[in-house]
Amino acid sequence: MSSLTHASSLLRSRAGLKAEPAAQARLERLLQESATLAGIPVDDYVSMVDTQPAAFDDLLDRVTVQHSAFFRDPAQFAALDHLARRADQSQHVVWSAACGNGQEPYSLAMALDETGRGDWQVVATDVSFHALARAEKAHYTETEVQGLSNERRHRYLTPSQDGYDVVPSIRRRVRIAHHNLALDEATSIVPKPAIVFCRNVLMYFGREESTACIQRIASAMASGGHLFLGHSDSPGPMTRFFAEVWVAGVHCYQRLAAVPVASVVGKQSAGARPPRDLPGLLTEGDRAAASGDLRAAVRAFRQATYLDPNVAIAYFQLGAALELAGDAREARRAFGAAGLAMVNGDGSEDISGLGGYTRRDLASAIAYKLTGAVR
Ligand SMILES: C[S@@+](CC[C@H](N)C(=O)[O-])C[C@H]1O[C@@H](n2cnc3c(N)ncnc32)[C@H](O)[C@@H]1O
Repeated sequence: MSSLTHASSLLRSRAGLKAEPAAQARLERLLQESATLAGIPVDDYVSMVDTQPAAFDDLLDRVTVQHSAFFRDPAQFAALDHLARRADQSQHVVWSAACGNGQEPYSLAMALDETGRGDWQVVATDVSFHALARAEKAHYTETEVQGLSNERRHRYLTPSQDGYDVVPSIRRRVRIAHHNLALDEATSIVPKPAIVFCRNVLMYFGREESTACIQRIASAMASGGHLFLGHSDSPGPMTRFFAEVWVAGVHCYQRLAAVPVASVVGKQSAGARPPRDLPGLLTEGDRAAASGDLRAAVRAFRQATYLDPNVAIAYFQLGAALELAGDAREARRAFGAAGLAMVNGDGSEDISGLGGYTRRDLASAIAYKLTGAVR
């Protein structure tokens, strides 16, 4: 098998991405570039992508198109507004599946804010850690905020460093997590979403992967919930799970009363790698930091925070790696998140094996990072 075919089949089996001629030419160039950067032959580089999760994630970051825009399809956001205002008074979730750089989930949160309903939350997921990091940063350039009216800019953005930050009240409404739509990963991070935006991702999937993905989304959704796809997405057969409906003049799919789909989607894709666990990622980050590869360290610690957003040590290690890498602003943000996770934790979690900290040590270290004061 050529290295190009090997890399293509990894991208397909692990992320659902089909190998189109134009994408192949780009992939070939990326493989060559990455191998040259690593100072190894392309074959060896692809073997590394196959066996080392961080190398695969890095390639995925480079291959996927993470571009997005605020209120990219305004009519779909008007339909969301329509549905949210009419929903019963209970907790509801909107899932931005394959959220790209984050403009989509923040647009959803802004639209929900405008309904005045506080009982809706947004969960944003993507397979690319680069996309998730950008979404988490919630910082956009002038060009990137072009889809926002002046009124929304005024209300939901604050100017900062050559661009804008999304205001905390909107950021708080969005929970960011890693999720691969091409694998049978647990969707417990998005409990029974009432609305799913899964836009501009199925267009990159192979036909079978797209069909399986739709089935997985269907199995995660509440019956009666609504699914919005992008105009270029080709979902394949839908009628077993969804009725085609129009909401506020917009075409979408309504989840039929639940049918057991687990048997259809229960197979793990061939070549899927085992899920990564928190201690493994923290160890990976530690090792990378010790060997001076701060980029890999930041990546591993960030992945740990996505895997479980409640673990203080993961944020703390992320902050320490960012600090070493010279990104003081992001480091501070990570230390702040570590402090919050400490405060929110019930104290029962065992952190003794994670980085050698006791709970008390960790609390002191976080306080020191944030205030400079020794406790
Ligand atoms: C063009 S962006 C779409 C962003 C947003 N939904 C929109 O329409 O503006 C496509 C996103 O799909 C993500 N993606 C690709 N394969 C995926 C997979 N298997 N699981 C989850 N996300 C995936 C990519 O990382 C990328 O961020």
